[in-house]
Amino acid sequence: MNKPIRVAVTGPAGQIGYALLFRIASGQMFGPEQPVILQLLEVPVEKAMKALEGVAMELDDCAFPLLHEMILTSDPSVGFKNANWCCLVGAKPRGPGMERADLLKDNGKIFIEQGRIIDQLAADDCRVAVVGNPANTNCMIAASQARRLPPERFTAMVRLDENRAKSQLAKKAGVPLTAVTDTYILGNHSPTMFPAFHIAKINGKPVPEVITDQAWLRGPFCETVGKRGAAIIAARGASSAASAANALVDHVHDLMTPGKIHSIAVKSNGDYGFDPNVWAGMPVKTTSAGSFEVIRNLPMDDFAKQKIAATNKELVEERDMVKGMLA
Ligand code: NAD
Ligand code: LMR
Repeated sequence: MNKPIRVAVTGPAGQIGYALLFRIASGQMFGPEQPVILQLLEVPVEKAMKALEGVAMELDDCAFPLLHEMILTSDPSVGFKNANWCCLVGAKPRGPGMERADLLKDNGKIFIEQGRIIDQLAADDCRVAVVGNPANTNCMIAASQARRLPPERFTAMVRLDENRAKSQLAKKAGVPLTAVTDTYILGNHSPTMFPAFHIAKINGKPVPEVITDQAWLRGPFCETVGKRGAAIIAARGASSAASAANALVDHVHDLMTPGKIHSIAVKSNGDYGFDPNVWAGMPVKTTSAGSFEVIRNLPMDDFAKQKIAATNKELVEERDMVKGMLA
């Protein structure tokens, strides 16, 4: 058995928290040989802390052998102390009729304080994954506070979009999910994102050779993936939770597994025409546990370039909206 790692999770009493913690504690995020200490950070509100106590009782009742300890706190300097991973989930979800960027004013400020405290108190090898919306820009806000941890330690989640794209392509082509590979998400976790279908593959063949309906790929496919979050809110009356938790398990698991190729939002260095200094979904390869390199030079046709330009524009606009929050 390895030495336990410390995993901080914010928003543990919320919807995603409830679907996430049991999967971390059971070993699905870090593997069956990796014990964990969960550092659970909620808001200092009695109702939330009481709900968190209930979740912790349930975690106890699962008797997970890998769960070595739980720390329940509303103090960020306790929650993030010596953390090896910080899963930043705690933030307001949007309601019907809202876009994720509408949350920036309320949620952005959470990531100023959290970014600063993580930088001061987390472990030297700390990695941060941001889920709270709008995830890309919140991640940029948190990373901007850091002086010790480099920007590549801060990633935001677009894995839910990747999983959604994969599932839509498999359904349309009538193939098992395992037949669909190379599904990358470029840009923002918002309706402008580009699920790059032209480089995705089905049974090793380019998607447009298998699904020859270009109009579907460019129209309903992109729209379904981009607006899936809103469709779930309309149907469920609440935003996606179990699938979001599942995507975070995938995001962290694949980022800890050398050789994995997947989509995460990372600080742009200008690849694919993204403005440097926005956090954009990119195809990456995990090089060693917790580290990655962007997969460069995948071919982008005119349609792809247009989509990338639109999602980049939105990311730049979001950055402008929060310039007062960037350190
Ligand atoms: P929720 O309202 O059910 O839970 C949020 C929890 O966070 C609450 O318990 C709340 O008390 C807590 N919280 C709020 N501010 C906090 C802070 N500063 N520190 C610690 N905890 C804090 O919401 P949810 O459904 O779990 O969603 C959480 C966030 O994740 C939302 O912003 C939502 O939009 C986002 N989300 C992102 C994705 C994605 O793909 N990136 C997918 C789904 C949801
Ligand atoms: C999602 O994509 O399901 C989440 O980002 C929640 C939302 O607001 O759409």
